[in-house]
Amino acid sequence: MIRYDHVGLRYGIGPEVLSDISFNLDPGSFHFLTGPSGAGKTSLMTLLYLGRKPTRGIISMFGQNIGAMTREQLVPIRQRVGVVFQDYRLMNHLSAFDNVALPLRIAGKPEKEIKNNVEELMHWVGLGDHMNALPNTMSGGQQQRISIARAVITRPRLLLADEPTGNLDDEIGFRLMGLFEQLNRMGTTILIATHSQVMMDKFNHSRLILDKGSMTVVPPKPKAMEGAA
Ligand SMILES: Nc1ncnc2c1ncn2[C@@H]1O[C@H](COP(=O)(O)OP(=O)(O)OP(=O)(O)O)[C@@H](O)[C@H]1O
Ligand SMILES: [Mg+2]
Repeated sequence: MIRYDHVGLRYGIGPEVLSDISFNLDPGSFHFLTGPSGAGKTSLMTLLYLGRKPTRGIISMFGQNIGAMTREQLVPIRQRVGVVFQDYRLMNHLSAFDNVALPLRIAGKPEKEIKNNVEELMHWVGLGDHMNALPNTMSGGQQQRISIARAVITRPRLLLADEPTGNLDDEIGFRLMGLFEQLNRMGTTILIATHSQVMMDKFNHSRLILDKGSMTVVPPKPKAMEGAA
């Protein structure tokens, strides 16, 4: 599904923020991406939603080397990726409903289907009473939930979520992790950047740990040990 092969990234003439990173994510797998602030979590995700090119190495997605592809060839790749940005990136002139509906409208879905799907998901994330609100009149946690709903509404093949529960209390945070797990059971590969030890302890998935530009992969705990401290 995703393969990083000796990937490095630097911004301008700065130091390498990712250096010589190699890993694979299998189709349908679920991973946390963790590490201290500034370790490069957002940078690693930016490469996967094609927001930037690596300065060295090869990234393959859905079996194709994305560095060798034209802009036109990258469009269908990008359409298979849902992203929850750390800073949400909502459209402030559109209502909460229209923000969530946007990817379906771009995909040309019929309005009736859009209305049903968006309303159902917005109720599910606890924003049923805020469909018509503008994002900048809503709390950080509410905006975060709009951003999550927008990212999952198309059932992407790959979901990248950058600190998706950072502004949510534990109860709603766990509920949204449940949504990611449900999506994962339907086949979506999931990568979630988080600092939250609580989330990583509660949900048993592999951890990609970034530190000083390098990565260590820690597999999930064996089933028999799940729930053990
Ligand atoms: N657009 C940019 N231009 C220059 N340097 C950048 C840019 N974006 C990130 N960096 C630098 O790259 C390094 C990694 O940043 P990144 O945002 O990927 O870390 P992070 O692990 O997501 O941190 P956090 O946990 O705080 O979100 C940092 O040293 C940061 O200053
Ligand atoms: Mg970040």
